[in-house]
Amino acid sequence: LNSVFALGVSLDSRNQRSSFTGAWAGAEASSVKCKLQGSIHLPAFSMDGDFIIGGAFSLHSYTQTVSHDYTIMPEPVRCKGSINADELQLSHAMVFAIEEINNNTELLPGIRLGYQIYDSCASVSMTVHLAFQFLNSLDLVFHTGKNCSQSGMVMAVVGESGSTPSISMSRIISPFNIPQVSPSATCACLSDKQQYPRFFRTIPSDQFQAGALAKLVKQFGWTWIGAVRSDTDYGNNGMASFLEAAKKEGICVEYSVSFYRTHPHSRIQKVADVIRRSTSMVVVAFAPSGDMRILLAELSREPFPPRQWIGSESWVTNPGLRKYSFLAGTIGFGIQKSVIPGFRNFLLNLSFAQVAVSPLLTEFWEDSFNCTIKERKKVCNGTEDIKTLQTPYTDTSQLRISNMVYKAVYAIAHAIHNALCQGRNVTAQCDKLTKLQSKQILTELKKVHFSRNGYDVSFDTNGDPVAIYELVNWQKTMAGITDIVNVGLYDASLPEGQEFQINKNIIWMEGSTKVPVSVCSGSCPPGTRKVLQKGKPICCYDCTACPEGEISNTT
Ligand SMILES: *[C@@H]1O[C@H](CO)[C@@H](O)[C@H](O)[C@H]1NC(C)=O
Ligand SMILES: *[C@@H]1O[C@H](CO)[C@@H](O)[C@H](O)[C@H]1NC(C)=O
Repeated sequence: LNSVFALGVSLDSRNQRSSFTGAWAGAEASSVKCKLQGSIHLPAFSMDGDFIIGGAFSLHSYTQTVSHDYTIMPEPVRCKGSINADELQLSHAMVFAIEEINNNTELLPGIRLGYQIYDSCASVSMTVHLAFQFLNSLDLVFHTGKNCSQSGMVMAVVGESGSTPSISMSRIISPFNIPQVSPSATCACLSDKQQYPRFFRTIPSDQFQAGALAKLVKQFGWTWIGAVRSDTDYGNNGMASFLEAAKKEGICVEYSVSFYRTHPHSRIQKVADVIRRSTSMVVVAFAPSGDMRILLAELSREPFPPRQWIGSESWVTNPGLRKYSFLAGTIGFGIQKSVIPGFRNFLLNLSFAQVAVSPLLTEFWEDSFNCTIKERKKVCNGTEDIKTLQTPYTDTSQLRISNMVYKAVYAIAHAIHNALCQGRNVTAQCDKLTKLQSKQILTELKKVHFSRNGYDVSFDTNGDPVAIYELVNWQKTMAGITDIVNVGLYDASLPEGQEFQINKNIIWMEGSTKVPVSVCSGSCPPGTRKVLQKGKPICCYDCTACPEGEISNTT
């Protein structure tokens, strides 16, 4: 990971150095002309306003891989793959929240918030590039006073979705005092305020999830488990915390393997084979949906023995993965299901005119309706009905991360309000000509505490919210589809020992109501004793008859 990060920076440092050189050269002349040396990426969605909020979402899953021969200027990074309709929904949750705030007469009255939302395609190099754009304006040449000023700078950033890109983003924008609020980066590492002093999030840190998962595994008596993770900050840190907590509970690990979405097929195949050949029944998978999808597709290529899956929050509530029927029985902690009034109508109100002028929405439309807007095959003409679509973009039955985005935007708006306005209701006075510094937003963000649609928003000293999860279980219905059912709750604000409760029956793998067994060796019956197997973990042993003169009368 460090090498990936270093690569991202070195690729883009060209731009950074250049723009600083511009500032330096200009400082000697009386009128300063700053010239952007690199190329710019246009926002996927944008709107002008008195204050601009930046947004970065993984609207695509990865970037085009290019091999550089270092003889010509590299082409700009490009996103590839198909559109992530769920991330598209997240970006629209941001737009929705901003429009709602602009309509609101109590929050920021008379002030218009704008946005610049970009596709960072879960890529470090792309995110680093965008981070620089958040610090500059989109103008190629600009004249300013004493230096290349911050006129185009955003007030705060919502994003990125993943932990690794969020880390790279934070490294660049943090020195400029720009606060960042991520809706879904959960790596516990981001709670370190020495490293990430201006990072906030509306989703709980994996610190809580890892401990809760270990308790869950212990509670069901599974002492022999397999571990799969994505080779990212999310997967590596999440799994490390889980394994540490699991070890304390006396749980043994048969295997621990990692993979990443852009790894060669042979590597993904190897990970799938480890799961196929394992003897442990339970598989704990700490991976984002984007990676999980790749592994599940590989596993589904041929039948394999049933497994009891335990999922991390990123994929365990993703409706898009329910098509893999072997996942029935899966359990895990997910972000709470929530309601955002008016959001569904907003999503469905996407007009064809809006679609036709946006390359990103055009791509989404063409993918969804299997037609093309520009060419003459099967032409999209606007008669397509978005209400008939079954896509994560229009699925509002289980709003989870969208609410995290919504909360993040409101937190930033409250911070701007508190820095800019006197008073808090319809009588509030806001002066849009006040020159706001992002540092002030940062100070106010640390103090925000409000409730929206019944959900509380505040941050602790690490920039983290109170950890609340739903325990979810993937249950097959009569109709043969898999439902993601809420069967319990985890609330870290409750006293120790009471955080966790299960309030509904869990249906395990293969539709069983009996807890599956996942042990290396079964219990030794009376008359026998445990003999550890050489070179194997302590959960693996043989039962041998007691020697003469000794008895064992318990199991
Ligand atoms: C904001 O107000 C306009 C005009 O009344 C309305 O058309 C729009 O739907 C509102 N947007 C939201 C998100 O509430
Ligand atoms: C607005 O807030 C002020 C105090 O900040 C309070 O005196 C006033 O009654 C409030 N007005 C309304 C309409 O709620």
